[in-house]
Amino acid sequence: MTKKTYYISTPIYYPSSNLHIGHTYCTVMADAMARFKRLAGYDVMFLTGTDEHGQKIQKVADEKGMSPQQHVDEIVEGIKELWKTMEISYDDFIRTTEPRHIKRVQNIFMKMYEKGDIYKGEYEGWYCTPCEAFWTETQIEEGKCPDCGRPVEKAKESAYFFKLSKYQDRLIDLFENNPEFLQPDTRRNEMLSFARQGLEDLCISRSSFNWGIPVPIDEKHVIYVWLDALSNYITALGYPDEPEKFDKYWPCDVHLVGKEIVRFHSIIWPAMLMSLDVPLPKKVLGHGWILLEGGKMSKSRGNIVDPVKLIERYGVDALKYFLLREYTFGQDGLYTNEVMLNRMNFDLANDLGNLVSRTVAMIEKYNGGTLPPFKGEGEFDADLKAVALGAADKVEACMDRFSFSQALEEIWIVVRRTNKYIDETMPWVLAKDESTKDRLDTVLHNLAEAIRIISILIYPFMHTTSKEIRKQLGIWYADVAWEDAFRFNMMSGETVKKGDPIFPRLDIEKELEALAALKDEPAEPEAAPTEFKPEITIEDFEKIDLKVGEILECKKHPKADKLLVSQVKIGTDTRQIVSGVAKYYTPEEMKGKKVIVVANLKPISLRGEESKGMILFADNGEKLAFVTTDAENGNSVN
Ligand code: ME8
Ligand code: MG
Repeated sequence: MTKKTYYISTPIYYPSSNLHIGHTYCTVMADAMARFKRLAGYDVMFLTGTDEHGQKIQKVADEKGMSPQQHVDEIVEGIKELWKTMEISYDDFIRTTEPRHIKRVQNIFMKMYEKGDIYKGEYEGWYCTPCEAFWTETQIEEGKCPDCGRPVEKAKESAYFFKLSKYQDRLIDLFENNPEFLQPDTRRNEMLSFARQGLEDLCISRSSFNWGIPVPIDEKHVIYVWLDALSNYITALGYPDEPEKFDKYWPCDVHLVGKEIVRFHSIIWPAMLMSLDVPLPKKVLGHGWILLEGGKMSKSRGNIVDPVKLIERYGVDALKYFLLREYTFGQDGLYTNEVMLNRMNFDLANDLGNLVSRTVAMIEKYNGGTLPPFKGEGEFDADLKAVALGAADKVEACMDRFSFSQALEEIWIVVRRTNKYIDETMPWVLAKDESTKDRLDTVLHNLAEAIRIISILIYPFMHTTSKEIRKQLGIWYADVAWEDAFRFNMMSGETVKKGDPIFPRLDIEKELEALAALKDEPAEPEAAPTEFKPEITIEDFEKIDLKVGEILECKKHPKADKLLVSQVKIGTDTRQIVSGVAKYYTPEEMKGKKVIVVANLKPISLRGEESKGMILFADNGEKLAFVTTDAENGNSVN
């Protein structure tokens, strides 16, 4: 019999910088699900990767003085290293710069083109010349480029378009009649109303930069990065030229994505697949964000949590447990060090860690380290057994809903029930009396059985801890099998072996200080790249009349706090110039300075004061400095 298949994907992340705990969260969820399905007997395909093209990547590479390929190679290596450390069990890692992907994306473009779904048109938008970036009306901020803050101008370029509008009705139908396709429901409702508002055709090529996959019929254009990126889910399976894996695993069971990219996955991606006559994925799941006090994590804001630092201190399984247990799937959640440390201490060190170490210690102490057999049921046994044997079904039901947190809570009900069983049966009392030896044996046996079941249940989430527990129970040789979570009385005669505590207790106060200190470590000094304006000609430059002048008098502007009004002598001419520097200099500091002036700037009136020319200052983005000179007053600067 062929196994049932299960295909799960994460977003392919941008290698514009190293990944943070938000990306880790998504990948850890996908990994837990992949491991769970493998354990449940599925033939799993777990795909992740990196989205390496586009203007932004090209820009970052330029700033670092590297080729885009060198730049992404370096970062992707770090990403793979992180996944190795996190023990992520992906089956394939696709990079959009790989030849297998590039040729297939071109193939996909051609199929859509031949279908009549791609046409050449004109793209109109707001253009930022220094950034070579096109922006839409909604992206620009007060007429300025959202990236560099400089003014943008209306511009047109020819581009290829995908007939997204053609698929509007089928998409509406999908959201209305197939509620399972997009979850949670709030996301589906958002997308439904988005589609009902009317879908415009999508511009799918760019010609203002070249770090992308060339449009096969027009080498001046590269393919829009989302068309390139979304295709990864099928190019990794060999679509269309090597369909073996594609036939086996497609349609995908679930695309796991963050909520901000649900729209791409539930509108553009299905429309592309409709155009290709390829079946749609079964499900798109939008998860929430991990937030920091002060907002969403972002590298540019410098407020990221580095998973590597946390792993170094607390271990992979503790971090995975925290991420999966703390956050409710689909909702945003706040990260704080304190919440994390409490989870690790209470759930892992206290509840699970203690249970294992107490049990193993008692078997060593009261039975020479050999696991005793079952010797007949006593008080409390039936309840313990029922709770332990009932958990696997509940975990399965939670996993069907992607409720990782609830699944772990179900497991911890067993953990806490088993700890309570120790308090109820008091093995140390039973051990004092030879006549209760059989009861003691059964109690130790039941404890070991419950822990064995726990070791199976936690396997998808913390496989290393699972194995460590099984080593201590003396069943290291047996494969973890999900069916065994439905059986009791499996063990007898195994030799237990006490190990180090599986989760050491943390001194929370001390750890909070240590984590705060880590944060305060000066970040690697990263010099902001020096930006240059677009090239001009010598003729352009010669239009500017720069002159040496001296500030004779200076006062505050009567109506504007930011402005100073100076009387500047330039040769034989004395004129008034207004400067926006009151934040940095007092009128007294201005007076007497010999400066460079743009002398032929068109005069303007600033809040009622005439300004004829401009005094030059050096600007580092935070403060200003005079551009002074020893030259003679009235000299030309050229
Ligand atoms: O969007 N909390 O890549 P990306 C939770 N290349 N999850 C977070 C998060 C946070 N604070 N920050 C990031 C892209 N994520 C595209 C995807 S797919 C064809 C192309 C996770 O590097 C979350 O899953 O910006 C989010 O969707 C993904 O990282 C975005 O990663
Ligand atoms: Mg993003």
